[in-house]
Amino acid sequence: MPDDPYRDVDLVGLYDLDNPALEDHAYYRALADEVDARSIVDLGCGTGLLTRSLARPGRTVTGVDPSRTMLDFARRQPGSESVTWVQGDARALAPTGTADLAVCTGNAIMHVSPEELPSTLRSLAGALRPGGTLRPGGTLSFESRNPAARAWERWTPEATYGERLTSVGHLREWLEVTDVSGGRVAFDAHNVFPDGEDRVYTSVLFFRTAEEFRRELDSAGFTDITWAGDWHGTPAGGGSRFFVFRARRA
Ligand SMILES: C[S@@+](CC[C@H](N)C(=O)[O-])C[C@H]1O[C@@H](n2cnc3c(N)ncnc32)[C@H](O)[C@@H]1O
Repeated sequence: MPDDPYRDVDLVGLYDLDNPALEDHAYYRALADEVDARSIVDLGCGTGLLTRSLARPGRTVTGVDPSRTMLDFARRQPGSESVTWVQGDARALAPTGTADLAVCTGNAIMHVSPEELPSTLRSLAGALRPGGTLRPGGTLSFESRNPAARAWERWTPEATYGERLTSVGHLREWLEVTDVSGGRVAFDAHNVFPDGEDRVYTSVLFFRTAEEFRRELDSAGFTDITWAGDWHGTPAGGGSRFFVFRARRA
């Protein structure tokens, strides 16, 4: 797995500061209420900030993530006992066909390679309740950056350089894209710690058009596939920074 930053215990400890609960969390929480979710699966849950906030009496919440470091952090947070934590990727999802809602947040789906995407979506479908004559199937929702916005062009050392005082001391940080081919973008994240050590982590993200996702979702057994360009349902256009997808298990 190339997502090394999620293995660094110091950086994982800073993750929630860098990625606080904003409109995205409000959207996913409102969706859980809208579909009256009794059972939720959060794939790529990371530190579980959103996952824990989805938990409530009468609702089961499962957080799945391949990074043991992320999950160890998640397990130490207040309220973690309300969530079942599972280490793994989509293959670890139980094909129970019982979940009312599956989410994949913080652009986690962009870590899934083209080879893995079909099986990942099929596993998500398998975890969700199938649709019937009386009620529609369980809902999947996730977000992914719009390739047309070409975010990677702004991931230069100059544009991303920063210094800050953190719980692990003074950090200097920047990003540098190392390869762009098709929708695949590889970049290094530099993190210079107070002792001068530069911990460099390589990440690979896969950018996909809305139409590519629509096709993949359709093939994986989803229906009622829609997407918006923000957290408020505004139709996506060429300038949208990201897509917010919703689909139902057929
Ligand atoms: C940017 S973090 C998002 C974490 C969290 N969902 C959030 O909203 O903050 C991406 C997460 O995806 C996980 N991840 C990487 N590859 C994955 C895969 N193939 N399947 C599921 N999760 C994956 C990483 O371990 C990491 O925790």
